[in-house]
Amino acid sequence: MEDKILEYLKSADGYISGQQLCEILGVSRTAVWKAVGRLRNEGYEIDAVKNRGYRLTGLPDLVTDTEIKDALDTSWAGHPVFYKEEMESTNDTAKRMASEGAGHGTLVVTERQTGGRGRLGRSWDSPEGSGIWMSIILKPDIAPERASMLTLVAALAVYDSLSVRVSGCGIKWPNDILIGSRKVCGILTEMSAEFDAVHDVVIGIGINVNTEEFPEDIKDVASSMYLAAGKRFERCGIIADIWKAFEKYYEIFMQTADLSGLKDLYNERLINRGRRVRIRGVQEASGPVTGTGKALSVQGTAKGIDDRGNLVTETDDGRTISVFSGEVSVRGYLGYV
Ligand code: BTN
Repeated sequence: MEDKILEYLKSADGYISGQQLCEILGVSRTAVWKAVGRLRNEGYEIDAVKNRGYRLTGLPDLVTDTEIKDALDTSWAGHPVFYKEEMESTNDTAKRMASEGAGHGTLVVTERQTGGRGRLGRSWDSPEGSGIWMSIILKPDIAPERASMLTLVAALAVYDSLSVRVSGCGIKWPNDILIGSRKVCGILTEMSAEFDAVHDVVIGIGINVNTEEFPEDIKDVASSMYLAAGKRFERCGIIADIWKAFEKYYEIFMQTADLSGLKDLYNERLINRGRRVRIRGVQEASGPVTGTGKALSVQGTAKGIDDRGNLVTETDDGRTISVFSGEVSVRGYLGYV
């Protein structure tokens, strides 16, 4: 019943009378009153005035499926939304759902992760009530070696959503979003494929939105939108903007199945560009789109990405290399001085 009352309160232009709600829902006034009480307990601010009725005056910062569905303005990204209050990892849930037949665009969201995963086997701190922990299932008709480029497409979309709210955002190659010199968002892309065909790609996005403090081990390198801007942000609006932007960039990406149409935009937002970088575990791109080159560590100056999302870098020994993967430190950021 709360869902229905909420629906009417949201669409009402001003107050809606208790009597009206009773008639529409076919329940007693006491039942309506109790349901309003439960909604208030969830954080909805509902004004009750004698002889006028109820009016919704404030929404809680929830990331439930109802709130996300209300906020989304997309044609396929985020349809459907699968929400659960707690998950071990939205990427794991999304991968399982994809293998069981969930379709392109399915969005998996949770309020807290008990086993959130980061890149390179790291864990990802995902406390309740302050962040965005979500994964989307994609089923693109592209060659497997192109799937990692979708990570950069997602980074562009997250950048758009964050940068209209907080100043000082930048992308650190390939897919971290920084505010100032600290990380506020990480993206983990995982693919299931056969040798020449992608089954599905899961892009997991973690954003520190209203986080007030961080665990000891990451407190010097991590930040949140709240800490950067000194105010709190409504998470559903951020989610909706990300998927709206993602649809636009995904379409551009799919026209060529590479980043040629997005490269310039990405490079404008890239904090690495023109900066000293130290790259550990470098995998050079060898051949047109593969990443099977030799692994090494280099220092040099980053130039920007190429059409395939490789980080073009001029090394200190005078070579120009295209880095397919590696752990990049950028001087001036995340503790690299
Ligand atoms: C990184 O190491 O920078 C990537 C972090 C990715 C975290 C997100 S949170 C939602 C999704 N589920 C996970 O377990 N990881 C990703």
